Amino acid sequence: MAEPTYDLDAVRRQIPLLRTHTPMNNCSQAPQSDVTRAAADAYLSSWAQDGMDWDSWIESTEEARAEFAALIGAQPNDVAIATSLSQATSSVASALSWRGRRNRIVASGAEFPTVGHVWLAQERHGAVVDWVPVRYGAVTLQDYQERIDDQTLVVSACRGYYQTGFKQNIPAIAELAHEKGAFLYVDAYQTMGSEVFDAPSSGADFVASGNLKFLMGIPGIAFLWVRPEVASEMEPSTTGWFGRADPYAFEAKRLDWAEGARRFDLGTPPIMEAYVARAGMAWLRELGLDAIEAWNDTLGQRCVEGAAERGLTVLGPHDPAMRTPTTAIACDNSHAVEATLRDQRIIASARGPAIRLAPHFYNTIEDVDRALDATARAIRHA
Ligand SMILES: Cc1ncc(COP(=O)(O)O)c(C=O)c1O
Repeated sequence: MAEPTYDLDAVRRQIPLLRTHTPMNNCSQAPQSDVTRAAADAYLSSWAQDGMDWDSWIESTEEARAEFAALIGAQPNDVAIATSLSQATSSVASALSWRGRRNRIVASGAEFPTVGHVWLAQERHGAVVDWVPVRYGAVTLQDYQERIDDQTLVVSACRGYYQTGFKQNIPAIAELAHEKGAFLYVDAYQTMGSEVFDAPSSGADFVASGNLKFLMGIPGIAFLWVRPEVASEMEPSTTGWFGRADPYAFEAKRLDWAEGARRFDLGTPPIMEAYVARAGMAWLRELGLDAIEAWNDTLGQRCVEGAAERGLTVLGPHDPAMRTPTTAIACDNSHAVEATLRDQRIIASARGPAIRLAPHFYNTIEDVDRALDATARAIRHA
């Protein structure tokens, strides 16, 4: 029987929910772990006992920034701290000028709605959004190529499609964007923490992710990596005092810019969330993203093969190289199926015409089989 290279039993002991449930919904919200719980408690204790320990709180926030940077092979100065992926995307949009001839946004139809909304909101400033179609749960490079031209300012391509688990080839899309002089914005929320992802060598110019899915964290914090030579040219109009060269200068009449991606920081950072985020990401890095990716591939393949054995239809590509850990199983009444599974303490995530199973590094093959059995029964009886 296949096994991960880390101690799976030891990992599982650190996730209390596994004693009672089978969580398979990392595409929505990862379960709590002892390490993230301890980090939240540390913040609460500091707040209760010290009232305010601003310096340590900011230090912890900086550790979260550095941890995210290490996870994607980058430098801390090239990472901004945001409060959601929507905010990170809006900050990027606010740094681009849509008034010239180069005003087109080429966005994949696989973007999470919030990213589409941010780009569409730029139309009032002169931007024109063009969509790359999703066909059979995936997007082709040819469809990007046909739309990217010398009027394209930014190409927006998520790494993983939240609906089907289709994984996009970021270096290939980057090449198409850069050939025409466009930037590439990547929303990596559906994959970050589930695979090795090196931002500097990916070709992307911007990479954003929230923290509550495969990174094992909570809502309220997100990260934005900006390629250093791009960041130094950017002056986001969505800004705040933490985006200044010296936030503690308290000079309301001077607008200068912090180094690198730090200029995309806004106001007081999400401090408690940063405590939790740092702890979750450090745990993943300690286990090794390569080991986690390998085990996720095994679990994902089991999902696809096991679904076929049970007569279930998997949406999107089946090729492991083109799949995130999410397997989307077609069903008419996905919310009823999600509720039925929850009654059996199996946590899955309904989205549109699919029930999504998204195992992660702590799941077992038995978890996958149990979830598939229950899903097949629930779909039959829905
Ligand atoms: C791919 C992707 N991007 C963005 C979001 C939403 O991000 P936020 O709520 O932080 O703006 C989600 C949430 O599910 C998502 O799956």
